Amino acid sequence: MPDALQLLKTRRSVKPMELTGPAPSAAEIDTLLAIASRVPDHGKLTPWRFIVFTGDGRLAAGEKIAAAFRANRADATPEQIEFERQRLARAPLVIAVVSRAGPHVKIPEWEQQLSAGASAMSLVIAAHAMGFAASWITEWYSYDRRVLDGLGLAANERMAGFVHIGRPSKPPEERERPALAAIVTHYSDPRK
Ligand SMILES: Cc1cc2nc3c(=O)[nH]c(=O)nc-3n(C[C@H](O)[C@H](O)[C@H](O)COP(=O)(O)O)c2cc1C
Repeated sequence: MPDALQLLKTRRSVKPMELTGPAPSAAEIDTLLAIASRVPDHGKLTPWRFIVFTGDGRLAAGEKIAAAFRANRADATPEQIEFERQRLARAPLVIAVVSRAGPHVKIPEWEQQLSAGASAMSLVIAAHAMGFAASWITEWYSYDRRVLDGLGLAANERMAGFVHIGRPSKPPEERERPALAAIVTHYSDPRK
């Protein structure tokens, strides 16, 4: 197991298609969820929640995705519909992070949304730290109202993403990162 810094320095997302079983155990899933709920949360609002998809639950959710796809695309082929039905069955475990951000007297909605992002990222890092790999994706169905209704999201809730988790079937290739010089400035007082 790499140490924390090494893990953070080398982590790569692994595509859902390349994530295989065995799935994390129920105890491991609980650990993942506990870590995902331990994120910065201004005002202690818990502006996120999780939906866990394992086993047949992944295909039951896939039915909702396929139905929405069919409704959106009159020309959909049976192969395309089947692909959509299998969307959440590519990886052995998928955890959806749902944002519950909303207007608040003191805490800006933006900060609540950022907290959901932190939660999804913690989930990704925790999965890697436990020896799994992960991929945080939204794809089209995170933005489809029919799908969101089918998965039980209220009108004020938004999908922060589906974190796919499994074991990597092959080592990921490196991905280019921005040069720090291009994104970092060191602030200095312009009057001096
Ligand atoms: C909110 C959010 C949604 C994303 N949705 C997708 C997606 O739908 N499809 C995709 O290929 N990557 C998506 N990504 C990017 C991947 O999570 C990942 O960053 C990318 O594959 C690069 O891998 P890396 O994590 O190793 O940099 C999304 C990232 C974020 C933050």
